[in-house]
Amino acid sequence: MEFSYGRRLDLDRCITGFDTALRTLFGDAVAGRSSPAERVAEDNIEPATRRHAAALMRVNHCGEICAQALYQGQALASSNEATKRTLDKAAGEEADHLAWSAQRVRQLGGRPSLLNPLWYAGSFALGYAAGLLGDEWNLGFLAETERQVEEHLQGHLDRLGDRDTKTRAVIEGMRREEAEHRRTAESLGARELPDAVRRAMRLAARAMTTLSYRI
Ligand SMILES: [Fe+2]
Ligand SMILES: [Fe+2]
Repeated sequence: MEFSYGRRLDLDRCITGFDTALRTLFGDAVAGRSSPAERVAEDNIEPATRRHAAALMRVNHCGEICAQALYQGQALASSNEATKRTLDKAAGEEADHLAWSAQRVRQLGGRPSLLNPLWYAGSFALGYAAGLLGDEWNLGFLAETERQVEEHLQGHLDRLGDRDTKTRAVIEGMRREEAEHRRTAESLGARELPDAVRRAMRLAARAMTTLSYRI
């Protein structure tokens, strides 16, 4: 009985996950909380800066698509209910990031990356694989992902400098919460990943960011 109950729950999660994937990729993301940019007035920015900011936000939007896929893959594979709840809570905040970055891309006159479905599929597979390795590695992968995203977002803040305060507000808001996600994963017992894995993750992230800046 227990076995079939467990299987039914997993099937529920599969169906929900598939529905979430379609809405993440093709639906209009709706934020549960208002964007940090809403409290900030629009700067008078030059067209070149505007295009640059739109491309940076396209990269960040693509990153948030990946975050959705990673979290969903990890939650689906994890067998620990506490971990699943933590992943679901963080995924909710990531859903806001997705909506905020989509909104900012549009405001800047840009469009989402055409490669999003590809990155989604790859990230989901990675997340699922990490989830199968057990909780400590699953959380370790999550913590390392968030650490690299934090660094990446700081890089975008540095590249923008003091231009485009509204875009900066979105990026800063996301960076703060990515740090919180990392700390949560660490406090739940995340293991430190081997150097080679961390380097491979950086390489994959670089491919994603370089391509989604342009395409
Ligand atoms: Fe995020
Ligand atoms: Fe995060």
